[in-house]
Amino acid sequence: MPRIVIFGAGAIGCWIGGRLAVGGADVTLVGRPRVLGELERGLQVSELGGGQWTVHPKLSTEAIDGELILVCTKSAQTADAARALAGTTGTIVSMQNGVRNVPVLRELLPGRRVLAGMVPFNVVKRGPGSYHRGSGGTLAVENSDAAAPLTEASLRADLALDLRDDMLPVQWAKLVMNLNNAINALSGRPLADELAQRGYRQILAAAQREALDLLRAAHIEVARVTIVPPRWMPRLLALPDPLFRRLAGRVVAIDPYARSSMWDDLEARRPTEVDYINGEVVALAERLGTHAPVNSGLVRLVREAEGGGKRDFSSDELRHALMRSTA
Ligand SMILES: NC(=O)c1ccc[n+]([C@@H]2O[C@H](COP(=O)([O-])OP(=O)(O)OC[C@H]3O[C@@H](n4cnc5c(N)ncnc54)[C@H](OP(=O)(O)O)[C@@H]3O)[C@@H](O)[C@H]2O)c1
Repeated sequence: MPRIVIFGAGAIGCWIGGRLAVGGADVTLVGRPRVLGELERGLQVSELGGGQWTVHPKLSTEAIDGELILVCTKSAQTADAARALAGTTGTIVSMQNGVRNVPVLRELLPGRRVLAGMVPFNVVKRGPGSYHRGSGGTLAVENSDAAAPLTEASLRADLALDLRDDMLPVQWAKLVMNLNNAINALSGRPLADELAQRGYRQILAAAQREALDLLRAAHIEVARVTIVPPRWMPRLLALPDPLFRRLAGRVVAIDPYARSSMWDDLEARRPTEVDYINGEVVALAERLGTHAPVNSGLVRLVREAEGGGKRDFSSDELRHALMRSTA
């Protein structure tokens, strides 16, 4: 059985590790005592379309070696993860959001094989030791012989996985979708409820358009990861509610209770990944000698929320707050 280590047992790590264990993979979760303590009687994982399992992966508070080591920490913890993994030898796969984690891992672990991965769906913690997939989509990992143990483990677990040659464009496509994380966190609402409201979607469409224009100017390719090409997404988002409702279900299914992990972070009073998502668009604008007013406004509001500021914006309040910051 493939020996797989999950480094950073949180929402994504526990869910992916648990799902791979369902197929019989030899999984070890490396995480904090408070998270691992909840798994002593088993880890429960469930699927959006039904299916629930209890598995018993190995648990460790220290980094250990495996054929594959999936890094599932938040982006700000990647450098620490690399240092902790310095004594291991297995292939490393970053399953994190953003576009900076793979370069950081490659720089800090020279000579090691580091592959890019992308998790398109959202995972909700339903209770102690219980993780549920909250939206649809297919996992993607860089096409490489070294990914074979993961392909085998996901096949055995009946978990869809795409091997792709264009992971950087895939990661940018995910980043453009993740621009909603900040809007969702600031709305204080579940994703399905937030996205059902045109006012929030229009803000997301503006944030996406801004990012896509900058990416085009920088000649950075953005892959197609849903049935809708990235350039069409802002137009879809801006449609009136009834029309959007009819079309959206065909693009991605969302659990009524799912929220963005940025909302989870604000709720738990942890720093968010906003610098690695909307902040990446702001940094790109700076490199091009221009501005990204919508995304820099979102970064500012999320930072304020991290410091205890408002995080129950109606769509009108959010639009006005963003307009104030661009005035
Ligand atoms: N959640 C989602 O739905 C989702 C969906 C797609 C992609 N992603 C991406 O996946 C990545 C992980 O997100 P997440 O929501 O799963 O984060 P998370 O719930 O915070 O899980 C990360 C876990 O790793 C632990 N950790 C960090 N450094 C560690 C170390 N050195 N040793 C042991 N444990 C360590 C963290 O503990 P501490 O908090 O105590 O540091 C935390 O429990 C992010 O890049 C995120 O953007 C998330």
